[in-house]
Amino acid sequence: MPVFILGIESSCDDTSAAVLDGTTMLSNVIANQQVHRDFGGVVPELASRAHQQHIIPVIDKALKNAKVRKEELTAIAFTRGPGLLGSLLVGTSFAKSMALALGIPLLEVNHLQAHILSHFILTNDSQKAVPAFPFLCLTVSGGHTQIVLTRDYFDMEVIGSTIDDAAGEAFDKAAKILGLPYPGGPVVDKLAGDGNPEAFRFSKPRISGLDYSFSGLKTSFLYFLRDRLKEDPDFAEKHKHDLCASLQSSIIDILMDKLILASRQTNISEIAIAGGVSANSGLRKAILSMKEKAGWNVYIPEFQFTTDNAAMIAVAGYFRFISGDFARQEVTPYSRGGF
Ligand code: KG4
Ligand code: ZN
Repeated sequence: MPVFILGIESSCDDTSAAVLDGTTMLSNVIANQQVHRDFGGVVPELASRAHQQHIIPVIDKALKNAKVRKEELTAIAFTRGPGLLGSLLVGTSFAKSMALALGIPLLEVNHLQAHILSHFILTNDSQKAVPAFPFLCLTVSGGHTQIVLTRDYFDMEVIGSTIDDAAGEAFDKAAKILGLPYPGGPVVDKLAGDGNPEAFRFSKPRISGLDYSFSGLKTSFLYFLRDRLKEDPDFAEKHKHDLCASLQSSIIDILMDKLILASRQTNISEIAIAGGVSANSGLRKAILSMKEKAGWNVYIPEFQFTTDNAAMIAVAGYFRFISGDFARQEVTPYSRGGF
């Protein structure tokens, strides 16, 4: 018997809906919000308004693409947090009303756990291996940078995290300094492809243990560029490829150093990456190289599951469903908070 889970994601600036049968994805629809581009970052009030406009057409399309009628749904999973409260409210309210109207269970999902559980989504064309417990997941996005020791679907422990900026934020802020559009990560990645990663050096943080810091790198990048621009106003334009390649390589070094340390300390070599920055080509290459260098089994998400998507919410919801862990109608979203 099919278990059709509708997933709804609205924690930041992507409105997404997906339908899964168990862990098999039938559809995954994402509506991006272009309204933030001119502001160089997400404007919360504009985000929640855009979610309101997108949510019905996106869910409708997800059901149509999956060829599933709403009456056939088994349960509805939604992102409860963390994220922007106004944005989360749109998805949460919609999920609650729809589950109530259809008389089906409601499943609450933590967005960060969902990024990690995206590794368990099966797509028609992939016979992919899924990580074995326990595994380490480096979750790197615009809002978070964490090393998570994952013992089971919902038994997760954050063993390292950033004390200031997230890795995605470091990409985005440096891109803004260079005058590149938001979000800067993908643009930096592209420009870095034709640049020399050794061209420039930026300071690396000295933080003990498994925690990260990226604010020093951002400041070092900013001061370096400010000094060079005094000598040559065209410096950034002339050297944008090398600047992006060097910045990207610094961020990856910082990420990898702590991940390698975490693997050594826990004696775990099942290693996954997740979140928006896991789309980065340099990071993917660095992780893959550890297969040979250290015998890691590595798990790299399909591109469609790196940035925010509802398929990961639905798969996390499915694991809640099979353990009978249903949400109540009184549930409200949370903007911050762990697992
Ligand atoms: O997971 P996500 O979609 O949203 C959050 O929950 O934050 O991640 C978005 C972040 C942004 O900072 C964006 O610049 C970054 O992921 N990103 C990348 C790449 N693609 C997206 N960063 C580096 N290289 C990329 N290819
Ligand atoms: Zn995310």
